[in-house]
Amino acid sequence: MTIRPTPLKKQPSLPEHAPEALDEERAWTLLRALARRAAQGHPLSRATGLDLDDAGELIELGVGRGVITIMPALARCFELHAPADAKVEELFDLYLPLCIGKASAKLVVGHLGQSLDGQIATSSGASQYVTGPENIRHLHRLRALFDAVIVGANTVECDDPQLTTRLVPGPNPTRIVLDPSRRLTGAQALFRDRAAPTLVLCALGSEREPKLSDVEVLGIEASGELLPVNGVIAALRARGLNRLFVEGGGVTVSRFLDARAFDRLHLTVSSVFLGEGRPGVKLPGIDRLDAALRPRVRRFALGDDVLFDCDFDDGKS
Ligand SMILES: NC(=O)c1ccc[n+]([C@@H]2O[C@H](COP(=O)([O-])OP(=O)(O)OC[C@H]3O[C@@H](n4cnc5c(N)ncnc54)[C@H](OP(=O)(O)O)[C@@H]3O)[C@@H](O)[C@H]2O)c1
Repeated sequence: MTIRPTPLKKQPSLPEHAPEALDEERAWTLLRALARRAAQGHPLSRATGLDLDDAGELIELGVGRGVITIMPALARCFELHAPADAKVEELFDLYLPLCIGKASAKLVVGHLGQSLDGQIATSSGASQYVTGPENIRHLHRLRALFDAVIVGANTVECDDPQLTTRLVPGPNPTRIVLDPSRRLTGAQALFRDRAAPTLVLCALGSEREPKLSDVEVLGIEASGELLPVNGVIAALRARGLNRLFVEGGGVTVSRFLDARAFDRLHLTVSSVFLGEGRPGVKLPGIDRLDAALRPRVRRFALGDDVLFDCDFDDGKS
């Protein structure tokens, strides 16, 4: 399927009066419009002034004009021209790097919400909610900005998640479940609710049973029951799903991280100790500290939680 880019409107003669205040809703609309362009394979990758028309489509202007200038090549990648409060500024700070620049056309981002002792759930699998409401809203925002949300079989089994964007404006992503041996029976809501396209990835040869009526099942080359992360990404890209959000749990995120597949990993830490439970990131050990993964990290306050935005862009280290 050929996806045509949304035409970017050029507006050469806009009145020179100061732009109206930019509120959170409009800022979010602008971010979603940028993410759409990236998903269509045409991310904005040079310095550009931007505004929105009444239909929520982007208007391209010169640098320094419109409500915001984006500067994809710079670490501080935007400058606001419209009056805006701190919340709007933080929205762009957190999400704009996911929506602009060449790499945003094929982005892979993960997230885990964990305790101070590194657990994402209790040992019985209870995880709702390790982190607070601001982080749950953040998760819904991430879903809305990506083509697909990926989870492991244990998460579907324990949480029966919907994986929709019901807390924020924005489209539901395609839901991807990694279930190599097809052990999930299909009883969970996401296999039946038709809220979004849903795809189960399994090992070649395990496609047939159990039968799922509203869900597509795709077998891919596996090594034993391990689906190679690169194979998972390639299978999804072959279907036009280029912007991938890996929502958990710990085993799934760790495999992506170990395969160096993430552009970014968001780790949100809540000030709670869970004791022995389901671990978050678990990587093979290293002997020397100079072999450690050291991403560039930005920190954001999400209510009482702290989000560590780990950027592996040049840290595939
Ligand atoms: N706090 C959070 O952010 C968060 C987020 C999501 C989930 N959770 C919680 O975390 C727990 C589940 O996490 P988890 O770490 O136990 O498991 P998980 O990552 O949800 O699922 C792991 C399973 O998914 C399949 N899988 C994942 N990647 C695969 C790959 N590359 N190749 C083949 N199979 C793959 C395997 O299924 P098989 O076992 O069949 O081989 C694997 O054992 C639940 O309690 C859930 O509530 C917390």
